[in-house]
Amino acid sequence: MSTSTSTSTSTSMSDALCPPLNTTAQLDPTAKLDPTAKLDTKALRAAFAQFATGVTVMTSQTHAPCGMTANAFTSLSMDPPLALVCVAQSAAMHAAVLRARVFGVSVLAADQEGHACYFADRTRPRGAAEFDGIAWHPGPQTGVPLLAGALARLECRLTDVHRGGDHSIFVGEVVGFTHGAPTAAEALIFHRGGFHRLPTRRPA
Ligand SMILES: Cc1cc2nc3c(=O)[nH]c(=O)nc-3n(C[C@H](O)[C@H](O)[C@H](O)COP(=O)(O)O)c2cc1C
Repeated sequence: MSTSTSTSTSTSMSDALCPPLNTTAQLDPTAKLDPTAKLDTKALRAAFAQFATGVTVMTSQTHAPCGMTANAFTSLSMDPPLALVCVAQSAAMHAAVLRARVFGVSVLAADQEGHACYFADRTRPRGAAEFDGIAWHPGPQTGVPLLAGALARLECRLTDVHRGGDHSIFVGEVVGFTHGAPTAAEALIFHRGGFHRLPTRRPA
C-alpha cells in the first residue's frame, strides 16, 4: 500500500494515469475537432483533466469490502437525495455494486492522497486484505466501508444504472451520511493529473 501523505502538486502514478499537458497543439484555443480524424485520446484526456475535482473512495460490500478511487462523483438531486458515480465496466467495483446494490462514497481530505493512490492501484490486494491497514467502519445503513478521516461519508442504495460507453453511471439514493465541520480539514483536489490541496481562505 502507498502511504504517501504528500500534498505536493503531483505524483508519478497520477501522471501515468493523466499525462500532463506538454504540446502547443493541446493548448491552442483555436484548435477545432475534425470529425473525420482519428480521436486523439491523449489530447482528450488532457482536455478532461482541465476540470478540477475532489477525490473520493467509492466502496461496496459483497463477500468482502472493496474500494476504488473515483473523481467522477456528483451530487445529483436533493428531492429525492441522489448522488452518482461513473465506474469503468472493467473495474472490480462495477460488478460489486451490481451485485450488492449499495455503495459508499468517502470524500478524501488533503492528507489522504495515499488512500487515493492505493485504491487506484490495480495491483492492490483483493478480498478481505484490500482494507488491511485502512481505518474504516461499516456504514450503519448498508454495511459499506466508510473511511476514517474523510471529509464526508455517504451511503447509497443503487436506484439506476445507465451505460455510458466503457463506463456505467451508478445513481444511488443517499440513505445515510456524515460530514465534518465546514472548516475542519482541507480537501484533496485532482487537477491536470496531479493531486493538490485546496487552499483555505481564513479571515485575518
Ligand atoms: C484521482 C483518480 C480518480 C479516478 N476516478 C475514477 C472514476 O471516477 N471512475 C473509474 O472507474 N475509475 C477512476 N479512477 C481509476 C480507478 O481508481 C482505477 O483504475 C482502479 O484501479 C479501478 O479498479 P480495478 O483495479 O478493480 O480495475 C481514478 C483514478 C484516480 C487516480
